[in-house]
Amino acid sequence: MTASATSDIIARAVEVLKENDQGAYTIPTKGLYPFQWNWDSCLTALGLAHYDEARAWTEIETLFAHQWPDGMVPHIVFHVWNDGYFPGPEVWRTGRPTATSGITQPAVAGFAVRRLFDRAKDKKSAADRARALLPKIDAWHRWFYENRDPTGEGLVAIIHPWESGRDNSIDWDDAFERVPTEGVEPYTRRDTLHADPAHRPTREQYDRYIWLLQHFRGLGWDNARLHDASPFQVVDPGFNAILIRAAADLAELAEALGETGIAGANRARAQKGLAAMERLWSDAQGQYLCLDRVTGKLIDSASVGGILPAFAAIPEARAATLATTVERLAGKARYVVPSHDPDDPRFDAKRYWRGPVWLVVNYMIADGLAAAGHHDAARRITQSSLDLIRESGFAEYYDPLAGDPLGGGRFTWTAAMVIEFLRHTS
Ligand code: GLC
Repeated sequence: MTASATSDIIARAVEVLKENDQGAYTIPTKGLYPFQWNWDSCLTALGLAHYDEARAWTEIETLFAHQWPDGMVPHIVFHVWNDGYFPGPEVWRTGRPTATSGITQPAVAGFAVRRLFDRAKDKKSAADRARALLPKIDAWHRWFYENRDPTGEGLVAIIHPWESGRDNSIDWDDAFERVPTEGVEPYTRRDTLHADPAHRPTREQYDRYIWLLQHFRGLGWDNARLHDASPFQVVDPGFNAILIRAAADLAELAEALGETGIAGANRARAQKGLAAMERLWSDAQGQYLCLDRVTGKLIDSASVGGILPAFAAIPEARAATLATTVERLAGKARYVVPSHDPDDPRFDAKRYWRGPVWLVVNYMIADGLAAAGHHDAARRITQSSLDLIRESGFAEYYDPLAGDPLGGGRFTWTAAMVIEFLRHTS
Protein backbone atom coordinates (compact mmCIF):
# COMPACT_ATOMS: atom_id res chain seq x y z
CA MET A 1 0.00 0.00 0.00
CA THR A 2 1.29 3.50 -0.77
CA ALA A 3 2.05 5.86 2.08
CA SER A 4 -0.84 8.10 1.16
CA ALA A 5 -3.32 5.20 1.01
CA THR A 6 -2.10 4.13 4.44
CA SER A 7 -2.48 7.55 5.96
CA ASP A 8 -5.91 7.91 4.38
CA ILE A 9 -7.14 4.66 5.99
CA ILE A 10 -5.66 5.64 9.34
CA ALA A 11 -7.41 9.02 9.14
CA ARG A 12 -10.72 7.27 8.43
CA ALA A 13 -10.15 4.86 11.32
CA VAL A 14 -9.44 7.73 13.69
CA GLU A 15 -12.68 9.35 12.57
CA VAL A 16 -14.61 6.19 13.58
CA LEU A 17 -12.88 6.12 16.97
CA LYS A 18 -13.67 9.78 17.60
CA GLU A 19 -17.26 9.37 16.53
CA ASN A 20 -17.80 6.61 19.11
CA ASP A 21 -15.83 8.33 21.87
CA GLN A 22 -18.05 9.32 24.81
CA GLY A 23 -15.28 11.18 26.66
CA ALA A 24 -14.02 8.57 29.12
CA TYR A 25 -15.06 5.42 27.26
CA THR A 26 -16.00 4.38 23.73
CA ILE A 27 -19.10 2.55 22.56
CA PRO A 28 -18.62 -0.27 20.01
CA THR A 29 -20.95 1.42 17.50
CA LYS A 30 -23.95 3.70 17.59
CA GLY A 31 -27.38 2.06 17.70
CA LEU A 32 -26.56 -1.62 18.12
CA TYR A 33 -24.19 -1.24 21.13
CA PRO A 34 -24.69 2.04 23.01
CA PHE A 35 -22.67 1.22 26.19
CA GLN A 36 -19.12 0.24 27.17
CA TRP A 37 -18.10 -3.34 26.40
CA ASN A 38 -15.20 -4.94 28.26
CA TRP A 39 -12.88 -6.47 25.65
CA ASP A 40 -13.89 -3.94 23.02
CA SER A 41 -12.55 -1.18 25.27
CA CYS A 42 -9.26 -2.90 26.04
CA LEU A 43 -8.46 -3.55 22.38
CA THR A 44 -9.75 -0.13 21.36
CA ALA A 45 -7.29 1.48 23.77
CA LEU A 46 -4.47 0.31 21.49
CA GLY A 47 -5.97 2.30 18.63
CA LEU A 48 -6.63 5.37 20.78
CA ALA A 49 -2.99 5.38 21.91
CA HIS A 50 -1.86 6.23 18.40
CA TYR A 51 -3.20 9.74 18.73
CA ASP A 52 -3.84 10.21 22.46
CA GLU A 53 -1.97 8.08 24.98
CA ALA A 54 -3.66 9.61 28.00
CA ARG A 55 -7.09 8.91 26.54
CA ALA A 56 -6.11 5.28 25.91
CA TRP A 57 -5.32 4.73 29.60
CA THR A 58 -8.59 6.39 30.58
CA GLU A 59 -10.51 3.85 28.47
CA ILE A 60 -9.23 0.97 30.59
CA GLU A 61 -9.41 2.89 33.86
CA THR A 62 -13.09 3.64 33.26
CA LEU A 63 -13.79 -0.05 32.75
CA PHE A 64 -11.98 -1.00 35.95
CA ALA A 65 -13.79 1.70 37.93
CA HIS A 66 -16.78 -0.64 37.59
CA GLN A 67 -15.04 -3.81 38.73
CA TRP A 68 -17.12 -5.78 41.23
CA PRO A 69 -15.94 -6.10 44.85
CA ASP A 70 -15.23 -9.82 44.25
CA GLY A 71 -12.84 -8.97 41.36
CA MET A 72 -15.04 -9.65 38.35
CA VAL A 73 -14.96 -7.08 35.56
CA PRO A 74 -18.40 -7.05 33.91
CA HIS A 75 -18.93 -7.45 30.19
CA ILE A 76 -21.05 -4.31 29.83
CA VAL A 77 -21.11 -1.05 31.81
CA PHE A 78 -24.39 0.79 31.30
CA HIS A 79 -23.06 4.31 31.88
CA VAL A 80 -26.14 6.05 30.52
CA TRP A 81 -29.75 5.16 29.96
CA ASN A 82 -30.59 3.93 26.46
CA ASP A 83 -33.48 1.72 25.41
CA GLY A 84 -31.84 0.66 22.14
CA TYR A 85 -30.28 -2.49 23.59
CA PHE A 86 -31.72 -5.68 25.05
CA PRO A 87 -31.10 -6.98 27.70
CA GLY A 88 -30.60 -3.66 29.48
CA PRO A 89 -29.98 -2.93 33.20
CA GLU A 90 -33.62 -3.51 34.13
CA VAL A 91 -33.18 -7.13 33.07
CA TRP A 92 -29.75 -7.76 34.60
CA ARG A 93 -30.59 -6.06 37.93
CA THR A 94 -27.11 -6.61 39.35
CA GLY A 95 -27.51 -3.91 42.00
CA ARG A 96 -24.25 -2.11 41.14
CA PRO A 97 -23.95 1.66 41.76
CA THR A 98 -23.59 2.17 38.02
CA ALA A 99 -25.55 -0.58 36.29
CA THR A 100 -23.50 -3.38 34.75
CA SER A 101 -24.18 -6.82 33.33
CA GLY A 102 -23.53 -9.79 35.64
CA ILE A 103 -21.14 -11.85 33.52
CA THR A 104 -17.63 -11.20 32.22
CA GLN A 105 -15.73 -11.26 28.89
CA PRO A 106 -12.26 -12.32 27.62
CA ALA A 107 -9.60 -10.94 29.96
CA VAL A 108 -7.54 -9.05 27.41
CA ALA A 109 -6.80 -6.08 29.73
CA GLY A 110 -3.46 -7.43 30.99
CA PHE A 111 -2.18 -7.74 27.44
CA ALA A 112 -3.46 -4.30 26.43
CA VAL A 113 -1.99 -2.54 29.44
CA ARG A 114 1.42 -4.08 28.90
CA ARG A 115 1.35 -3.06 25.25
CA LEU A 116 0.35 0.50 26.15
CA PHE A 117 3.15 0.63 28.71
CA ASP A 118 5.81 -0.78 26.38
CA ARG A 119 4.98 1.68 23.64
CA ALA A 120 4.36 4.73 25.83
CA LYS A 121 6.16 7.94 24.97
CA ASP A 122 5.26 9.39 28.35
CA LYS A 123 6.94 6.69 30.45
CA LYS A 124 6.41 8.39 33.79
CA SER A 125 2.68 8.73 33.37
CA ALA A 126 2.40 5.22 31.88
CA ALA A 127 4.23 3.75 34.89
CA ASP A 128 1.90 5.54 37.32
CA ARG A 129 -1.22 4.47 35.51
CA ALA A 130 -0.04 0.90 34.97
CA ARG A 131 0.91 0.61 38.65
CA ALA A 132 -2.61 1.64 39.67
CA LEU A 133 -4.21 -0.88 37.31
CA LEU A 134 -1.93 -3.81 38.21
CA PRO A 135 -3.68 -4.93 41.44
CA LYS A 136 -7.09 -4.57 39.79
CA ILE A 137 -6.20 -6.74 36.82
CA ASP A 138 -4.50 -9.20 39.16
CA ALA A 139 -7.71 -9.38 41.24
CA TRP A 140 -9.69 -10.13 38.08
CA HIS A 141 -7.31 -12.95 37.16
CA ARG A 142 -7.54 -14.35 40.69
CA TRP A 143 -11.34 -14.13 40.47
CA PHE A 144 -11.31 -16.28 37.35
CA TYR A 145 -9.38 -19.15 38.91
CA GLU A 146 -11.30 -18.97 42.20
CA ASN A 147 -14.76 -18.88 40.65
CA ARG A 148 -14.44 -20.60 37.31
CA ASP A 149 -11.93 -23.33 38.08
CA PRO A 150 -13.33 -24.87 41.25
CA THR A 151 -11.18 -28.01 41.10
CA GLY A 152 -7.96 -26.15 40.31
CA GLU A 153 -7.26 -27.72 36.92
CA GLY A 154 -5.69 -24.54 35.54
CA LEU A 155 -8.44 -23.78 33.00
CA VAL A 156 -11.51 -21.59 33.54
CA ALA A 157 -15.03 -22.16 32.25
CA ILE A 158 -17.48 -19.69 30.80
CA ILE A 159 -21.05 -20.03 32.06
CA HIS A 160 -22.77 -18.01 29.34
CA PRO A 161 -21.91 -17.89 25.61
CA TRP A 162 -21.68 -14.10 25.79
CA GLU A 163 -18.70 -14.41 28.11
CA SER A 164 -16.64 -15.92 25.30
CA GLY A 165 -17.03 -12.83 23.14
CA ARG A 166 -17.89 -15.32 20.35
CA ASP A 167 -21.51 -15.14 21.31
CA ASN A 168 -23.25 -17.31 18.76
CA SER A 169 -20.51 -19.83 17.90
CA ILE A 170 -21.34 -23.37 16.79
CA ASP A 171 -19.16 -24.43 19.75
CA TRP A 172 -22.03 -23.79 22.15
CA ASP A 173 -24.81 -25.59 20.26
CA ASP A 174 -24.65 -28.99 21.94
CA ALA A 175 -24.10 -27.74 25.49
CA PHE A 176 -26.84 -25.18 24.90
CA GLU A 177 -29.35 -28.00 24.40
CA ARG A 178 -29.22 -28.47 28.16
CA VAL A 179 -30.38 -24.91 28.80
CA PRO A 180 -34.16 -24.84 29.16
CA THR A 181 -36.40 -22.15 27.76
CA GLU A 182 -39.37 -22.51 30.10
CA GLY A 183 -40.08 -19.53 32.30
CA VAL A 184 -38.32 -16.97 30.14
CA GLU A 185 -40.05 -13.65 30.71
CA PRO A 186 -41.50 -12.01 27.59
CA TYR A 187 -39.05 -9.68 25.86
CA THR A 188 -38.47 -7.71 22.69
CA ARG A 189 -35.11 -7.99 20.99
CA ARG A 190 -33.45 -4.79 19.83
CA ASP A 191 -30.47 -6.19 17.89
CA THR A 192 -32.64 -7.18 14.94
CA LEU A 193 -33.80 -3.56 14.60
CA HIS A 194 -30.21 -2.53 13.88
CA ALA A 195 -28.90 -5.54 11.97
CA ASP A 196 -30.26 -8.09 9.48
CA PRO A 197 -32.00 -10.92 11.45
CA ALA A 198 -30.40 -13.45 9.09
CA HIS A 199 -27.01 -12.37 10.46
CA ARG A 200 -28.05 -12.62 14.11
CA PRO A 201 -28.84 -15.43 16.60
CA THR A 202 -32.17 -17.23 16.32
CA ARG A 203 -35.13 -16.71 18.65
CA GLU A 204 -34.52 -20.05 20.38
CA GLN A 205 -30.91 -19.20 21.08
CA TYR A 206 -31.98 -15.87 22.48
CA ASP A 207 -34.46 -17.57 24.84
CA ARG A 208 -31.61 -19.65 26.21
CA TYR A 209 -29.36 -16.63 26.66
CA ILE A 210 -32.11 -15.03 28.70
CA TRP A 211 -32.89 -18.18 30.65
CA LEU A 212 -29.30 -18.32 31.88
CA LEU A 213 -29.38 -14.63 32.79
CA GLN A 214 -32.60 -15.10 34.80
CA HIS A 215 -31.14 -18.19 36.47
CA PHE A 216 -28.03 -16.33 37.62
CA ARG A 217 -30.10 -13.35 38.70
CA GLY A 218 -32.23 -15.73 40.80
CA LEU A 219 -29.02 -16.75 42.59
CA GLY A 220 -28.34 -13.12 43.48
CA TRP A 221 -25.35 -12.88 41.08
CA ASP A 222 -23.32 -14.68 43.73
CA ASN A 223 -20.28 -15.79 41.77
CA ALA A 224 -19.36 -18.36 44.39
CA ARG A 225 -22.50 -20.28 43.34
CA LEU A 226 -22.98 -19.58 39.64
CA HIS A 227 -20.44 -21.93 38.08
CA ASP A 228 -21.70 -25.09 39.74
CA ALA A 229 -25.33 -24.04 39.29
CA SER A 230 -24.98 -23.45 35.55
CA PRO A 231 -26.11 -26.12 33.06
CA PHE A 232 -23.68 -24.44 30.65
CA GLN A 233 -19.99 -24.74 31.65
CA VAL A 234 -17.59 -24.70 28.73
CA VAL A 235 -13.80 -24.47 28.73
CA ASP A 236 -13.05 -22.37 25.67
CA PRO A 237 -9.43 -22.58 24.46
CA GLY A 238 -9.49 -19.06 23.01
CA PHE A 239 -10.84 -17.57 26.21
CA ASN A 240 -8.24 -19.41 28.29
CA ALA A 241 -5.42 -18.48 25.92
CA ILE A 242 -6.29 -14.80 26.24
CA LEU A 243 -6.28 -15.10 30.03
CA ILE A 244 -2.97 -16.98 29.93
CA ARG A 245 -1.38 -14.36 27.64
CA ALA A 246 -2.74 -11.57 29.84
CA ALA A 247 -1.36 -13.26 32.96
CA ALA A 248 2.07 -13.65 31.34
CA ASP A 249 2.03 -10.02 30.19
CA LEU A 250 0.89 -8.79 33.58
CA ALA A 251 3.72 -10.75 35.18
CA GLU A 252 6.28 -9.00 32.91
CA LEU A 253 4.78 -5.61 33.58
CA ALA A 254 4.63 -6.20 37.33
CA GLU A 255 8.26 -7.30 37.32
CA ALA A 256 9.29 -4.14 35.48
CA LEU A 257 7.42 -2.05 38.05
CA GLY A 258 8.88 -3.90 41.04
CA GLU A 259 5.62 -5.62 42.02
CA THR A 260 7.13 -9.06 42.50
CA GLY A 261 4.14 -10.60 44.30
CA ILE A 262 1.80 -9.86 41.40
CA ALA A 263 4.49 -10.99 38.95
CA GLY A 264 4.92 -14.36 40.64
CA ALA A 265 1.21 -15.10 40.97
CA ASN A 266 0.54 -14.35 37.33
CA ARG A 267 3.54 -16.25 36.05
CA ALA A 268 2.30 -19.29 37.95
CA ARG A 269 -1.22 -18.93 36.50
CA ALA A 270 0.15 -18.71 32.98
CA GLN A 271 2.41 -21.74 33.39
CA LYS A 272 -0.29 -23.90 34.88
CA GLY A 273 -2.77 -22.82 32.21
CA LEU A 274 -0.37 -23.56 29.37
CA ALA A 275 0.26 -27.08 30.65
CA ALA A 276 -3.48 -27.71 31.07
CA MET A 277 -4.25 -26.45 27.55
CA GLU A 278 -2.72 -29.64 26.16
CA ARG A 279 -5.92 -31.46 27.16
CA LEU A 280 -7.80 -29.41 24.60
CA TRP A 281 -5.58 -30.22 21.62
CA SER A 282 -7.00 -32.22 18.69
CA ASP A 283 -4.59 -33.80 16.21
CA ALA A 284 -7.50 -34.63 13.92
CA GLN A 285 -8.57 -30.98 13.60
CA GLY A 286 -5.09 -29.45 13.83
CA GLN A 287 -6.30 -27.03 16.50
CA TYR A 288 -7.62 -26.83 20.04
CA LEU A 289 -11.24 -27.66 20.91
CA CYS A 290 -13.69 -26.58 23.59
CA LEU A 291 -14.37 -28.90 26.50
CA ASP A 292 -17.86 -29.36 27.86
CA ARG A 293 -17.19 -29.46 31.60
CA VAL A 294 -20.59 -30.94 32.39
CA THR A 295 -20.07 -34.05 30.22
CA GLY A 296 -16.26 -34.03 30.45
CA LYS A 297 -16.01 -34.38 26.66
CA LEU A 298 -14.28 -32.32 23.96
CA ILE A 299 -16.67 -30.54 21.58
CA ASP A 300 -15.91 -31.49 17.99
CA SER A 301 -16.34 -28.06 16.45
CA ALA A 302 -13.54 -26.44 14.44
CA SER A 303 -14.06 -22.80 15.34
CA VAL A 304 -11.58 -19.94 15.48
CA GLY A 305 -11.69 -20.27 19.28
CA GLY A 306 -9.32 -23.21 18.81
CA ILE A 307 -6.87 -21.19 16.68
CA LEU A 308 -6.84 -18.19 18.98
CA PRO A 309 -4.45 -19.98 21.39
CA ALA A 310 -1.70 -18.93 18.98
CA PHE A 311 -1.92 -15.71 21.04
CA ALA A 312 -0.40 -17.49 24.09
CA ALA A 313 3.06 -19.05 24.43
CA ILE A 314 1.88 -22.52 23.40
CA PRO A 315 4.44 -25.22 22.47
CA GLU A 316 6.27 -24.59 19.17
CA ALA A 317 4.81 -27.65 17.48
CA ARG A 318 1.27 -26.48 18.30
CA ALA A 319 1.91 -23.00 16.91
CA ALA A 320 3.34 -24.55 13.73
CA THR A 321 0.23 -26.69 13.26
CA LEU A 322 -2.04 -23.69 13.85
CA ALA A 323 -0.10 -21.77 11.18
CA THR A 324 -0.71 -24.66 8.78
CA THR A 325 -4.39 -24.69 9.73
CA VAL A 326 -4.64 -20.99 8.89
CA GLU A 327 -3.02 -21.65 5.49
CA ARG A 328 -5.46 -24.51 4.94
CA LEU A 329 -8.40 -22.23 5.75
CA ALA A 330 -7.02 -19.71 3.27
CA GLY A 331 -7.56 -22.36 0.62
CA LYS A 332 -11.26 -22.55 1.49
CA ALA A 333 -12.12 -18.93 2.27
CA ARG A 334 -11.00 -15.88 0.34
CA TYR A 335 -10.54 -13.94 3.58
CA VAL A 336 -9.04 -15.46 6.72
CA VAL A 337 -9.62 -16.26 9.53
CA PRO A 338 -13.22 -17.46 9.24
CA SER A 339 -14.82 -17.98 12.66
CA HIS A 340 -15.70 -21.50 11.61
CA ASP A 341 -14.29 -24.07 9.18
CA PRO A 342 -16.17 -23.66 5.85
CA ASP A 343 -16.16 -27.45 5.34
CA ASP A 344 -18.41 -27.97 8.34
CA PRO A 345 -22.06 -28.22 7.19
CA ARG A 346 -23.02 -25.91 10.09
CA PHE A 347 -20.80 -23.11 8.69
CA ASP A 348 -22.77 -19.97 7.83
CA ALA A 349 -20.84 -17.23 6.00
CA LYS A 350 -23.09 -14.45 7.21
CA ARG A 351 -24.34 -15.39 10.65
CA TYR A 352 -22.68 -13.97 13.70
CA TRP A 353 -19.66 -16.06 14.81
CA ARG A 354 -20.71 -19.08 12.72
CA GLY A 355 -18.44 -18.24 9.79
CA PRO A 356 -17.67 -14.51 9.48
CA VAL A 357 -14.26 -12.90 10.02
CA TRP A 358 -13.62 -10.56 12.99
CA LEU A 359 -10.57 -8.29 12.87
CA VAL A 360 -9.94 -8.43 16.63
CA VAL A 361 -9.56 -12.18 16.45
CA ASN A 362 -7.32 -11.80 13.41
CA TYR A 363 -5.14 -9.34 15.30
CA MET A 364 -4.56 -11.67 18.24
CA ILE A 365 -3.84 -14.70 16.06
CA ALA A 366 -1.47 -12.75 13.80
CA ASP A 367 0.32 -11.30 16.83
CA GLY A 368 0.92 -14.75 18.28
CA LEU A 369 1.91 -16.41 15.01
CA ALA A 370 4.40 -13.62 14.23
CA ALA A 371 5.91 -13.93 17.72
CA ALA A 372 6.32 -17.67 17.12
CA GLY A 373 8.10 -16.98 13.81
CA HIS A 374 5.24 -17.89 11.47
CA HIS A 375 5.49 -14.70 9.46
CA ASP A 376 3.81 -15.96 6.28
CA ALA A 377 0.64 -17.03 8.06
CA ALA A 378 0.65 -13.81 10.11
CA ARG A 379 1.09 -11.72 6.94
CA ARG A 380 -1.73 -13.54 5.24
CA ILE A 381 -4.06 -12.64 8.10
CA THR A 382 -2.96 -9.01 8.07
CA GLN A 383 -3.43 -8.85 4.31
CA SER A 384 -6.96 -10.29 4.50
CA SER A 385 -7.83 -7.81 7.23
CA LEU A 386 -6.62 -4.84 5.20
CA ASP A 387 -8.32 -6.09 2.04
CA LEU A 388 -11.61 -6.29 3.94
CA ILE A 389 -11.27 -2.73 5.18
CA ARG A 390 -10.44 -1.36 1.75
CA GLU A 391 -13.29 -3.21 0.08
CA SER A 392 -15.97 -3.12 2.77
CA GLY A 393 -15.20 -0.40 5.34
CA PHE A 394 -15.13 -0.59 9.13
CA ALA A 395 -17.80 -3.25 9.65
CA GLU A 396 -18.50 -5.32 12.75
CA TYR A 397 -17.67 -8.53 10.87
CA TYR A 398 -17.27 -9.78 7.28
CA ASP A 399 -18.34 -12.64 5.04
CA PRO A 400 -15.15 -14.75 4.60
CA LEU A 401 -16.16 -15.89 1.11
CA ALA A 402 -17.58 -12.73 -0.47
CA GLY A 403 -16.05 -10.06 1.79
CA ASP A 404 -19.40 -8.33 2.41
CA PRO A 405 -19.62 -6.05 5.47
CA LEU A 406 -22.00 -7.48 8.10
CA GLY A 407 -23.59 -6.51 11.43
CA GLY A 408 -23.07 -2.97 12.68
CA GLY A 409 -21.15 -0.36 10.69
CA ARG A 410 -18.47 2.17 11.72
CA PHE A 411 -17.23 -0.19 14.35
CA THR A 412 -14.78 1.01 17.00
CA TRP A 413 -12.54 -1.99 17.61
CA THR A 414 -12.38 -2.76 13.90
CA ALA A 415 -11.02 0.76 13.38
CA ALA A 416 -8.56 0.31 16.25
CA MET A 417 -7.28 -2.96 14.80
CA VAL A 418 -6.78 -1.44 11.37
CA ILE A 419 -4.52 1.23 12.87
CA GLU A 420 -2.63 -1.54 14.65
CA PHE A 421 -2.25 -3.58 11.48
CA LEU A 422 -1.02 -0.62 9.48
CA ARG A 423 1.36 0.73 12.10
CA HIS A 424 2.85 -2.43 13.48
CA THR A 425 2.50 -5.57 11.48
CA SER A 426 2.44 -4.68 7.78
C1 GLC B 1 -21.05 -8.81 20.23
C2 GLC B 1 -19.78 -9.63 20.16
C3 GLC B 1 -18.92 -9.36 21.38
C4 GLC B 1 -18.65 -7.86 21.48
C5 GLC B 1 -19.95 -7.04 21.42
C6 GLC B 1 -19.70 -5.55 21.28
O1 GLC B 1 -21.82 -9.16 21.33
O2 GLC B 1 -20.07 -10.98 20.05
O3 GLC B 1 -17.70 -10.04 21.30
O4 GLC B 1 -17.96 -7.56 22.64
O5 GLC B 1 -20.71 -7.44 20.32
O6 GLC B 1 -18.92 -5.29 20.16
